[in-house]
Amino acid sequence: MLSLVYGIARTVLFGLEPERAHEMTLRALEQGLYPRSLLPEDPRLAVSAFGLEFPNPIGIAAGFDKDARVPDGILGMGCGFAEIGTVTPLAQEGNPKPRVFRLTEDDALINRLGFNNGGHAAARHRLAERQKRRGASAGLVGVNVGANKDTADKIADYVAGIDTFYSLASYFMINISSPNTPGLRDLQAPAALDELLGRVMAARARHVAGGAASRPIVVKISPDIAEADVAPIVARLEANAVDGIAISNTTLSRSGLGQTKDAQQAGGLSGKPLFHRSTVTLARVYQMTGGRIPLIGIGGVNSGATALDKIEAGATLVQLYTGLVYEGPALIGRIKRDLSNAVAAAPPGSTLANITGRKANLWASNALD
Ligand code: FNR
Repeated sequence: MLSLVYGIARTVLFGLEPERAHEMTLRALEQGLYPRSLLPEDPRLAVSAFGLEFPNPIGIAAGFDKDARVPDGILGMGCGFAEIGTVTPLAQEGNPKPRVFRLTEDDALINRLGFNNGGHAAARHRLAERQKRRGASAGLVGVNVGANKDTADKIADYVAGIDTFYSLASYFMINISSPNTPGLRDLQAPAALDELLGRVMAARARHVAGGAASRPIVVKISPDIAEADVAPIVARLEANAVDGIAISNTTLSRSGLGQTKDAQQAGGLSGKPLFHRSTVTLARVYQMTGGRIPLIGIGGVNSGATALDKIEAGATLVQLYTGLVYEGPALIGRIKRDLSNAVAAAPPGSTLANITGRKANLWASNALD
């Protein structure tokens, strides 16, 4: 039934220019016009990661709710957590339109939005109002932070994100992997990472010294890191004691795409064609970290089977964005149902933690295309 309704909604939304369709979707969520998940959570899908208790491991990835307009809509659809952002200190317009393209035959999107967002103050205000309304413990909401395009000291922008949202974020996602802000991905170089994480962790330590609880710091990496560079980068992440690693952001690769007219648009590719590359990289990071650091698997999840693949490749949590565009909100419930079935088929007493990474070796041995 839900799929039928979304089938109709999708026809309407896909008749609109992608950003317009996205704005309509956000407005519907703001108005509470979305299918609420009424099923009780399956306790076997509950996940503990970096000191937080997630009712289930599925979330919507950053970019869907850049300005913290609909975290409760995301949670209400049945997600175990929401993530807002990427937010930058100052509001910015982003790149000229059009800048989001549907590659319908490939179940993919290309975007070169360039961190269009309303800035820290506006998002902070919304999250503070929400916290007043709902209390501090009403669902997990992470804050994804980035840097303004024209900033002189990019790292200072991340530190400002930590400071601005410290009392409002369940966790922080440090986004150094968007391909649409020139120079941003340079922060993934090992030496730059040391400086970035040194200053970010010092900011957190300041808040903790002032009596606040520690907040998890998760770093989101690109799927385009050269194969030989993944290990040194992961080594720096571990040495700087990050709480989690998210794999991955969008890719600049165009391999595996059909001949649709927009396939060569500049920007980051997401959705089905990203699945293989991001899952193989996830599995390799899992091998390198030996299960010591919780991983968030992102890229091309559009079904229960692909979400299960991420978990078996090593993900403790899973996020998706493009799959929601193509499949609609019923996807969340389908994934949870399929994950419950997968846990039920595992040895008695198993939870998701027991199947996390069980196929990492297999995935990691795949060649990257
Ligand atoms: C994104 N993504 C993204 N990531 C991020 O860290 N900050 C951001 O602001 C955005 N913005 C954004 C906009 C749009 C339109 C898309 C499609 C994606 C990347 C996103 O969070 C995710 O990492 C990738 O899209 C891969 O997941 P899917 O879409 O294949 O499930």
